[in-house]
Amino acid sequence: MFELPGFNLDLKIPDSSVDLSAAHADLHKKYQSGSIGFYDWPKNIPPSLIGEAKTLGDEIRKNFECVVLIGIGGSFLGAAGLIEALRDPKEKSPQIVWLSNVDRTALNRTMAAMQGKKTALVLISKSGSTVEALTALYELQSSIDSKAIYVITDPEKGELRQLSKTHGWKSLPVPPNIGGRFSVLTGVGLLPHAIAGIDNAKLLEGAAKMRERLEKAAPKENPAYQYALASYLWCEQKRNIHVLMPYDSGIALIGDWFVQLWAESIGKKRIKDGQPVGFTPIRCLGTTDQHSQLQLFKEGPEDKVVGFIEVRDSNAKLIPKGALVTKHFEFLTKHSAEGVNRAASKAVEESLNRSGTPTYRFSFPSLNPETLGSFLFFQMTACAFAGELFGVNAFDQPGVEETKTLLRAAL
Ligand code: PA5
Repeated sequence: MFELPGFNLDLKIPDSSVDLSAAHADLHKKYQSGSIGFYDWPKNIPPSLIGEAKTLGDEIRKNFECVVLIGIGGSFLGAAGLIEALRDPKEKSPQIVWLSNVDRTALNRTMAAMQGKKTALVLISKSGSTVEALTALYELQSSIDSKAIYVITDPEKGELRQLSKTHGWKSLPVPPNIGGRFSVLTGVGLLPHAIAGIDNAKLLEGAAKMRERLEKAAPKENPAYQYALASYLWCEQKRNIHVLMPYDSGIALIGDWFVQLWAESIGKKRIKDGQPVGFTPIRCLGTTDQHSQLQLFKEGPEDKVVGFIEVRDSNAKLIPKGALVTKHFEFLTKHSAEGVNRAASKAVEESLNRSGTPTYRFSFPSLNPETLGSFLFFQMTACAFAGELFGVNAFDQPGVEETKTLLRAAL
């Protein structure tokens, strides 16, 4: 069991003789060269940035009834996931609408949400040239006052940066050395979070605490490295499907962020010999998917590992005894709904272990900006380290870029 800032990780690592020190040295060379910026970000974040994000966020909260946030991939999942997990449900205003896909349904729904409301547009794109983001902007341009457009993009390059200069749109920079799926703690997340009323200082504090914890550990005791090592060794054992199963609907989208992080970072050709490597990350939701995919996990191909996420609720109360409770199900009233949920996750874990499927478990005493900042930083560090173990560049995405090029050519 690893006791970590904000959560615990219960993980049994397969036996191995993999030496972690060379991978650690190689990764730290990248951090020190300045080419990879996410790791030192919680330490190096410009002191004024959180304040700037808050000022813009407060301006939007005060002046608009609806905010459409346009972004895709790393310019969407982390920020949207944190907002889904942390936004106070009592806060109805401004209405937050994410426009990621530019299909007919997504566009129509967005326009319907904007109808009759004073709306701001926040464009998020590191490259500033992603076709979906520009398509969404052009589709909505006639419904938006140019003074209501805000941009988060590269400080110099890309179409959105040029447009923001031409039209005087307010903007935040994305550091050039922090790539999409590693960028949730930069302006990419900070402005959306500020609009949603989330405390970014606490989020960064959580990430900084995790960084300090990992930084102090020797490579072979570093919990993020151990998690990466386990993911690598499970693949060696031909367990190429890695399921993350949160038992909390609030963090389902953070599960999708996890999928993108690992899929896009590790699934690629190995540098030394061009061999394909990686594993397929899947996000499930407990208990919903116990009644869907679990049968396959339990008795289908033995190619999976399942990670659980449980979240405690300190306010959980016993299920009420009422007129509808009969003696057959009275046992339920001895538990809280949270207790039922957790018992279900333990039952699944035991059942999977009985048939030999490896499992692990993240346990959160509560979800808040600090604990989630710590968790996201843990995952990013683990994933970066896994890149070294798998022998790939975790920070590029040639497959994604090729499709972007083909799409532009086709259009
Ligand atoms: O992680 C990545 O690099 C990608 O998923 C990008 O985030 C995604 O393609 C969107 O790119 P951009 O932020 O440049 O619009």
